[in-house]
Amino acid sequence: MTQIRSTVSIDSRLEVDDEDALAFDVLDGFARAFKELPPKYFYDAEGSRLFEEICKQPEYYPTRTERGILERHAEEIVALTSASELVELGSGVPTKTRLLLDAMAAAGTLDRYVPFDVSEGVVRASAEQLMEEYDGLRVHGIIGDYERHLDAVPPSEGSRIVVFLGGTIGNFLPGSRRRFLRSIARELGPDDRLLLGTDLVKDPAVLHAAYNDAAGVTAAFNLNVLAVLNRELAADFDLSAFEHVAFFDTEREWIEMRLRSRCEQRVSIERLETVVAFGAGEELRTELSAKFTHKRISADAAASGMRVERFFTDPDESFALSLCAPADGSAPATLESLKARTATAGSRRQRCLGGQLG
Ligand code: SAH
Ligand code: TRP
Repeated sequence: MTQIRSTVSIDSRLEVDDEDALAFDVLDGFARAFKELPPKYFYDAEGSRLFEEICKQPEYYPTRTERGILERHAEEIVALTSASELVELGSGVPTKTRLLLDAMAAAGTLDRYVPFDVSEGVVRASAEQLMEEYDGLRVHGIIGDYERHLDAVPPSEGSRIVVFLGGTIGNFLPGSRRRFLRSIARELGPDDRLLLGTDLVKDPAVLHAAYNDAAGVTAAFNLNVLAVLNRELAADFDLSAFEHVAFFDTEREWIEMRLRSRCEQRVSIERLETVVAFGAGEELRTELSAKFTHKRISADAAASGMRVERFFTDPDESFALSLCAPADGSAPATLESLKARTATAGSRRQRCLGGQLG
Protein backbone atom coordinates (compact mmCIF):
# COMPACT_ATOMS: atom_id res chain seq x y z
CA MET A 1 0.00 0.00 0.00
CA THR A 2 1.28 3.43 -0.82
CA GLN A 3 1.10 6.06 1.83
CA ILE A 4 -0.66 9.24 0.82
CA ARG A 5 1.40 12.29 1.64
CA SER A 6 0.18 14.62 4.34
CA THR A 7 0.81 18.36 4.15
CA VAL A 8 1.14 21.20 6.63
CA SER A 9 0.79 24.95 6.26
CA ILE A 10 0.80 27.50 9.06
CA ASP A 11 -0.72 30.96 8.86
CA SER A 12 0.30 33.41 11.58
CA ARG A 13 -1.81 36.48 12.25
CA LEU A 14 -0.01 37.39 15.45
CA GLU A 15 2.87 39.50 14.37
CA VAL A 16 2.63 43.20 13.80
CA ASP A 17 -0.37 44.23 15.85
CA ASP A 18 0.14 41.73 18.64
CA GLU A 19 2.19 43.82 21.02
CA ASP A 20 -0.20 46.77 20.52
CA ALA A 21 -3.16 44.57 21.42
CA LEU A 22 -1.48 43.51 24.67
CA ALA A 23 -0.52 47.12 25.50
CA PHE A 24 -4.08 48.27 24.83
CA ASP A 25 -5.68 45.48 26.88
CA VAL A 26 -3.35 46.07 29.83
CA LEU A 27 -3.80 49.85 29.84
CA ASP A 28 -7.56 49.50 29.49
CA GLY A 29 -7.89 46.68 32.01
CA PHE A 30 -5.72 48.32 34.69
CA ALA A 31 -7.48 51.68 34.33
CA ARG A 32 -10.80 50.19 35.47
CA ALA A 33 -12.17 50.60 38.96
CA PHE A 34 -12.03 46.81 39.26
CA LYS A 35 -8.85 45.78 37.43
CA GLU A 36 -9.02 42.95 34.91
CA LEU A 37 -7.07 41.20 32.15
CA PRO A 38 -8.35 39.13 29.19
CA PRO A 39 -7.57 35.42 29.65
CA LYS A 40 -5.81 34.86 26.32
CA TYR A 41 -2.52 36.16 27.77
CA PHE A 42 -2.22 33.12 30.06
CA TYR A 43 -1.15 30.97 27.16
CA ASP A 44 2.54 31.57 26.45
CA ALA A 45 4.67 28.39 26.21
CA GLU A 46 4.80 28.05 30.02
CA GLY A 47 1.08 28.79 30.37
CA SER A 48 0.17 26.15 27.79
CA ARG A 49 2.38 23.65 29.63
CA LEU A 50 0.74 24.51 32.96
CA PHE A 51 -2.73 24.18 31.41
CA GLU A 52 -1.81 20.65 30.31
CA GLU A 53 -0.83 19.95 33.94
CA ILE A 54 -4.17 21.35 35.19
CA CYS A 55 -5.99 18.90 32.93
CA LYS A 56 -4.24 16.01 34.71
CA GLN A 57 -5.13 17.12 38.25
CA PRO A 58 -7.55 14.79 40.06
CA GLU A 59 -9.83 17.76 40.96
CA TYR A 60 -10.06 19.03 37.37
CA TYR A 61 -12.87 16.83 36.03
CA PRO A 62 -13.81 18.72 32.79
CA THR A 63 -11.07 17.27 30.56
CA ARG A 64 -11.61 13.61 31.41
CA THR A 65 -15.39 14.00 31.44
CA GLU A 66 -15.41 15.61 28.00
CA ARG A 67 -13.05 12.88 26.75
CA GLY A 68 -15.48 10.26 28.07
CA ILE A 69 -18.39 11.85 26.18
CA LEU A 70 -16.31 11.86 22.99
CA GLU A 71 -15.30 8.22 23.52
CA ARG A 72 -18.98 7.32 23.64
CA HIS A 73 -20.30 9.60 20.92
CA ALA A 74 -17.56 10.58 18.44
CA GLU A 75 -18.74 8.05 15.90
CA GLU A 76 -22.33 9.27 16.09
CA ILE A 77 -21.28 12.93 15.92
CA VAL A 78 -19.22 12.25 12.82
CA ALA A 79 -22.05 10.22 11.25
CA LEU A 80 -24.46 13.11 11.85
CA THR A 81 -22.19 15.54 10.03
CA SER A 82 -20.30 13.41 7.46
CA ALA A 83 -17.73 16.18 7.65
CA SER A 84 -14.44 16.09 5.80
CA GLU A 85 -12.96 19.07 7.62
CA LEU A 86 -12.42 19.68 11.32
CA VAL A 87 -11.80 23.28 12.40
CA GLU A 88 -10.80 23.54 16.05
CA LEU A 89 -10.88 26.84 17.95
CA GLY A 90 -8.55 27.12 20.96
CA SER A 91 -7.14 23.76 19.91
CA GLY A 92 -4.32 23.65 22.49
CA VAL A 93 -2.82 20.17 22.74
CA PRO A 94 -5.41 18.28 20.68
CA THR A 95 -5.64 15.03 22.65
CA LYS A 96 -9.43 14.75 22.72
CA THR A 97 -9.56 15.88 19.09
CA ARG A 98 -7.97 12.60 18.00
CA LEU A 99 -11.20 10.80 18.94
CA LEU A 100 -13.03 12.88 16.32
CA LEU A 101 -10.23 12.60 13.74
CA ASP A 102 -10.18 8.81 14.26
CA ALA A 103 -13.94 8.62 13.72
CA MET A 104 -13.66 10.74 10.56
CA ALA A 105 -10.80 8.57 9.30
CA ALA A 106 -12.83 5.41 10.03
CA ALA A 107 -15.81 6.88 8.14
CA GLY A 108 -13.47 7.59 5.24
CA THR A 109 -14.28 11.32 5.12
CA LEU A 110 -11.24 12.88 6.84
CA ASP A 111 -9.45 15.40 4.62
CA ARG A 112 -8.38 18.51 6.50
CA TYR A 113 -7.70 19.66 10.07
CA VAL A 114 -7.53 23.37 10.94
CA PRO A 115 -6.19 23.99 14.48
CA PHE A 116 -6.59 27.63 15.57
CA ASP A 117 -4.85 28.90 18.70
CA VAL A 118 -3.22 32.03 20.07
CA SER A 119 -0.35 29.93 21.42
CA GLU A 120 2.21 29.49 18.63
CA GLY A 121 4.03 26.48 20.06
CA VAL A 122 0.93 24.31 20.42
CA VAL A 123 -0.24 25.02 16.86
CA ARG A 124 3.14 24.14 15.34
CA ALA A 125 3.63 21.02 17.49
CA SER A 126 0.13 19.65 16.94
CA ALA A 127 0.25 20.32 13.19
CA GLU A 128 3.52 18.38 12.85
CA GLN A 129 2.32 15.52 15.00
CA LEU A 130 -1.09 15.04 13.45
CA MET A 131 0.12 15.15 9.87
CA GLU A 132 2.49 12.32 10.76
CA GLU A 133 -0.26 10.31 12.43
CA TYR A 134 -2.93 10.55 9.73
CA ASP A 135 -2.18 9.49 6.17
CA GLY A 136 -3.15 12.09 3.62
CA LEU A 137 -4.32 14.63 6.20
CA ARG A 138 -3.93 18.25 5.20
CA VAL A 139 -3.24 20.40 8.25
CA HIS A 140 -3.74 24.14 8.02
CA GLY A 141 -2.72 25.69 11.34
CA ILE A 142 -3.70 29.23 12.29
CA ILE A 143 -1.88 31.20 14.97
CA GLY A 144 -4.18 34.03 15.94
CA ASP A 145 -6.85 35.47 18.19
CA TYR A 146 -10.20 33.88 17.38
CA GLU A 147 -11.99 37.06 18.43
CA ARG A 148 -10.15 39.08 15.78
CA HIS A 149 -8.90 36.66 13.13
CA LEU A 150 -11.74 34.28 12.38
CA ASP A 151 -11.43 35.38 8.74
CA ALA A 152 -8.12 33.47 8.64
CA VAL A 153 -10.06 30.19 8.52
CA PRO A 154 -9.84 29.01 4.89
CA PRO A 155 -13.08 28.62 2.89
CA SER A 156 -14.45 25.11 3.27
CA GLU A 157 -13.93 22.58 0.54
CA GLY A 158 -16.41 20.05 1.89
CA SER A 159 -18.75 19.87 4.84
CA ARG A 160 -17.16 20.97 8.05
CA ILE A 161 -17.43 20.57 11.79
CA VAL A 162 -16.16 23.45 13.92
CA VAL A 163 -15.25 22.33 17.45
CA PHE A 164 -14.71 24.48 20.52
CA LEU A 165 -13.88 22.21 23.43
CA GLY A 166 -12.76 22.40 27.03
CA GLY A 167 -15.49 24.76 28.19
CA THR A 168 -13.45 27.67 26.82
CA ILE A 169 -16.67 29.37 25.62
CA GLY A 170 -17.31 29.93 29.35
CA ASN A 171 -14.34 32.27 29.46
CA PHE A 172 -16.33 34.98 27.64
CA LEU A 173 -18.65 37.45 29.35
CA PRO A 174 -22.27 36.60 28.40
CA GLY A 175 -22.60 39.50 25.90
CA SER A 176 -19.35 38.82 24.03
CA ARG A 177 -20.11 35.10 24.24
CA ARG A 178 -23.16 35.52 22.04
CA ARG A 179 -21.35 37.94 19.75
CA PHE A 180 -18.62 35.34 19.31
CA LEU A 181 -21.09 32.51 18.72
CA ARG A 182 -22.82 34.67 16.09
CA SER A 183 -19.50 35.20 14.33
CA ILE A 184 -19.04 31.41 14.19
CA ALA A 185 -22.64 30.83 13.04
CA ARG A 186 -22.11 33.25 10.16
CA GLU A 187 -19.30 31.02 8.88
CA LEU A 188 -21.38 27.82 8.90
CA GLY A 189 -22.83 26.47 5.67
CA PRO A 190 -26.22 24.68 5.89
CA ASP A 191 -24.54 21.26 6.33
CA ASP A 192 -21.83 22.46 8.71
CA ARG A 193 -22.05 22.03 12.49
CA LEU A 194 -20.55 23.53 15.62
CA LEU A 195 -19.62 21.11 18.42
CA LEU A 196 -19.52 23.13 21.62
CA GLY A 197 -18.10 21.86 24.93
CA THR A 198 -19.55 23.44 28.07
CA ASP A 199 -19.07 22.77 31.75
CA LEU A 200 -22.39 22.42 33.59
CA VAL A 201 -23.68 23.97 36.83
CA LYS A 202 -23.06 21.58 39.73
CA ASP A 203 -22.20 21.32 43.44
CA PRO A 204 -20.17 24.46 44.25
CA ALA A 205 -17.69 22.38 46.29
CA VAL A 206 -16.80 20.32 43.21
CA LEU A 207 -16.38 23.49 41.14
CA HIS A 208 -14.32 25.17 43.83
CA ALA A 209 -11.93 22.22 44.06
CA ALA A 210 -11.46 22.11 40.27
CA TYR A 211 -10.06 25.66 40.28
CA ASN A 212 -8.15 25.33 43.56
CA ASP A 213 -6.25 22.06 43.05
CA ALA A 214 -4.21 20.87 46.03
CA ALA A 215 -0.95 20.71 44.04
CA GLY A 216 -1.24 24.43 43.29
CA VAL A 217 -1.01 24.08 39.50
CA THR A 218 -3.97 26.40 38.84
CA ALA A 219 -2.40 28.95 41.20
CA ALA A 220 0.89 28.77 39.23
CA PHE A 221 -1.05 29.07 35.96
CA ASN A 222 -2.92 32.13 37.20
CA LEU A 223 0.28 33.83 38.46
CA ASN A 224 2.05 33.07 35.17
CA VAL A 225 0.10 35.85 33.46
CA LEU A 226 2.16 38.32 35.52
CA ALA A 227 5.37 36.70 34.23
CA VAL A 228 4.01 37.23 30.71
CA LEU A 229 3.58 40.96 31.45
CA ASN A 230 7.09 41.11 32.94
CA ARG A 231 8.56 39.64 29.78
CA GLU A 232 6.42 41.27 27.09
CA LEU A 233 6.08 44.74 28.61
CA ALA A 234 9.19 44.93 30.83
CA ALA A 235 7.03 45.10 33.95
CA ASP A 236 8.36 44.30 37.42
CA PHE A 237 5.59 42.23 39.01
CA ASP A 238 6.83 40.28 42.03
CA LEU A 239 4.84 37.03 41.67
CA SER A 240 5.21 36.23 45.36
CA ALA A 241 3.40 39.48 46.22
CA PHE A 242 0.15 38.14 44.69
CA GLU A 243 -2.02 35.17 45.57
CA HIS A 244 -4.39 33.01 43.54
CA VAL A 245 -8.12 33.36 44.29
CA ALA A 246 -10.89 31.33 42.62
CA PHE A 247 -14.49 31.12 43.77
CA PHE A 248 -17.89 30.16 42.41
CA ASP A 249 -20.32 33.07 42.12
CA THR A 250 -23.58 31.23 42.82
CA GLU A 251 -25.75 34.06 41.50
CA ARG A 252 -24.04 34.46 38.14
CA GLU A 253 -23.11 30.77 38.02
CA TRP A 254 -19.53 31.34 37.00
CA ILE A 255 -16.10 30.71 38.46
CA GLU A 256 -14.12 33.87 38.89
CA MET A 257 -10.36 33.77 38.98
CA ARG A 258 -8.44 36.63 40.50
CA LEU A 259 -4.98 37.63 41.68
CA ARG A 260 -4.97 39.34 45.09
CA SER A 261 -2.25 41.79 46.02
CA ARG A 262 -0.76 40.69 49.35
CA CYS A 263 0.31 44.25 50.22
CA GLU A 264 0.10 47.83 49.04
CA GLN A 265 2.48 48.07 46.10
CA ARG A 266 3.40 49.92 42.95
CA VAL A 267 4.36 48.03 39.82
CA SER A 268 6.24 49.65 36.98
CA ILE A 269 5.38 48.71 33.39
CA GLU A 270 8.33 50.15 31.55
CA ARG A 271 7.18 49.60 27.98
CA LEU A 272 3.90 51.39 28.72
CA GLU A 273 5.73 54.14 30.63
CA THR A 274 3.33 53.70 33.50
CA VAL A 275 3.15 52.68 37.14
CA VAL A 276 0.17 50.75 38.49
CA ALA A 277 -0.81 50.94 42.15
CA PHE A 278 -2.38 48.01 44.00
CA GLY A 279 -3.91 48.39 47.45
CA ALA A 280 -3.38 45.66 50.05
CA GLY A 281 -5.94 42.95 49.27
CA GLU A 282 -6.90 44.53 45.96
CA GLU A 283 -7.90 41.98 43.35
CA LEU A 284 -7.29 41.75 39.62
CA ARG A 285 -9.78 39.61 37.67
CA THR A 286 -7.97 37.27 35.30
CA GLU A 287 -10.70 34.93 34.15
CA LEU A 288 -14.32 33.88 34.22
CA SER A 289 -15.45 30.35 33.61
CA ALA A 290 -19.20 30.30 33.15
CA LYS A 291 -21.12 27.13 33.96
CA PHE A 292 -24.11 26.18 31.84
CA THR A 293 -27.49 24.47 31.91
CA HIS A 294 -29.13 22.81 28.92
CA LYS A 295 -31.51 25.78 28.80
CA ARG A 296 -28.72 28.38 28.79
CA ILE A 297 -26.94 26.61 25.94
CA SER A 298 -30.14 26.50 23.86
CA ALA A 299 -30.81 30.18 24.54
CA ASP A 300 -27.25 31.16 23.57
CA ALA A 301 -27.48 29.08 20.40
CA ALA A 302 -30.85 30.61 19.47
CA ALA A 303 -29.60 34.14 20.09
CA SER A 304 -26.65 33.37 17.81
CA GLY A 305 -28.58 32.00 14.84
CA MET A 306 -28.20 28.31 15.70
CA ARG A 307 -30.22 25.50 17.21
CA VAL A 308 -29.00 22.63 19.37
CA GLU A 309 -29.50 19.54 17.23
CA ARG A 310 -28.09 17.03 19.72
CA PHE A 311 -27.05 17.34 23.34
CA PHE A 312 -24.55 14.81 24.72
CA THR A 313 -23.66 14.56 28.38
CA ASP A 314 -22.07 12.12 30.87
CA PRO A 315 -24.08 10.02 33.35
CA ASP A 316 -23.55 12.63 36.13
CA GLU A 317 -24.50 15.50 33.79
CA SER A 318 -21.28 17.19 34.68
CA PHE A 319 -20.21 18.38 31.23
CA ALA A 320 -21.95 18.69 27.86
CA LEU A 321 -21.20 18.62 24.17
CA SER A 322 -23.82 20.34 22.03
CA LEU A 323 -24.00 19.79 18.31
CA CYS A 324 -25.34 23.06 16.89
CA ALA A 325 -26.74 23.61 13.41
CA PRO A 326 -27.41 26.90 11.63
CA ALA A 327 -30.99 27.88 12.59
CA ASP A 328 -32.70 27.85 9.22
CA GLY A 329 -30.43 27.41 6.30
CA SER A 330 -27.55 29.49 7.52
CA ALA A 331 -29.31 32.73 8.38
CA PRO A 332 -28.09 34.17 11.67
CA ALA A 333 -30.64 35.65 14.11
CA THR A 334 -32.14 38.89 12.88
CA LEU A 335 -33.08 41.78 15.09
CA GLU A 336 -36.77 41.03 14.45
CA SER A 337 -36.47 37.38 15.49
CA LEU A 338 -34.60 38.42 18.64
CA LYS A 339 -37.35 40.93 19.50
CA ALA A 340 -40.01 38.28 18.91
CA ARG A 341 -38.16 35.86 21.17
CA THR A 342 -37.79 38.43 23.95
CA ALA A 343 -41.51 39.15 23.74
CA THR A 344 -42.46 35.45 24.02
CA ALA A 345 -40.05 34.93 26.91
CA GLY A 346 -41.73 37.86 28.69
CA SER A 347 -45.27 36.60 28.21
CA ARG A 348 -44.24 33.10 29.24
CA ARG A 349 -42.84 34.46 32.47
CA GLN A 350 -46.10 36.33 33.13
CA ARG A 351 -48.04 33.17 32.56
CA CYS A 352 -45.87 31.33 35.09
CA LEU A 353 -46.41 34.04 37.66
CA GLY A 354 -50.13 33.98 36.94
CA GLY A 355 -50.13 30.24 37.46
CA GLN A 356 -48.37 30.61 40.79
CA LEU A 357 -50.76 33.26 41.99
CA GLY A 358 -53.82 31.39 40.81
N1 SAH B 1 -9.05 22.72 23.53
C1 SAH B 1 -8.12 22.37 24.60
C2 SAH B 1 -7.50 23.60 25.28
C3 SAH B 1 -8.45 24.44 26.10
S1 SAH B 1 -7.60 25.74 26.96
C4 SAH B 1 -8.83 21.53 25.61
O1 SAH B 1 -10.04 21.35 25.51
O2 SAH B 1 -8.19 21.01 26.52
C5 SAH B 1 -8.01 27.12 25.96
C6 SAH B 1 -7.18 27.21 24.67
O3 SAH B 1 -7.66 28.33 23.93
C7 SAH B 1 -5.69 27.43 24.90
O4 SAH B 1 -4.94 26.58 24.08
C8 SAH B 1 -5.48 28.91 24.53
O5 SAH B 1 -4.20 29.16 24.01
C9 SAH B 1 -6.57 29.14 23.50
N2 SAH B 1 -7.06 30.52 23.46
C10 SAH B 1 -7.48 31.28 24.51
N3 SAH B 1 -7.90 32.49 24.08
C11 SAH B 1 -7.73 32.49 22.72
C12 SAH B 1 -8.00 33.45 21.72
N4 SAH B 1 -8.50 34.65 22.02
N5 SAH B 1 -7.73 33.11 20.43
C13 SAH B 1 -7.22 31.88 20.11
N6 SAH B 1 -6.96 30.93 21.04
C14 SAH B 1 -7.21 31.23 22.33
N1 TRP C 1 -11.32 26.84 29.76
C1 TRP C 1 -10.78 26.36 31.02
C2 TRP C 1 -11.88 26.46 32.08
O1 TRP C 1 -12.57 27.45 32.14
C3 TRP C 1 -9.57 27.16 31.35
C4 TRP C 1 -9.05 27.01 32.75
C5 TRP C 1 -9.08 25.94 33.55
C6 TRP C 1 -8.42 28.00 33.47
N2 TRP C 1 -8.47 26.21 34.74
C7 TRP C 1 -8.07 27.45 34.70
C8 TRP C 1 -8.09 29.29 33.21
C9 TRP C 1 -7.40 28.21 35.66
C10 TRP C 1 -7.46 30.05 34.16
C11 TRP C 1 -7.09 29.49 35.36
O2 TRP C 1 -12.08 25.52 32.84
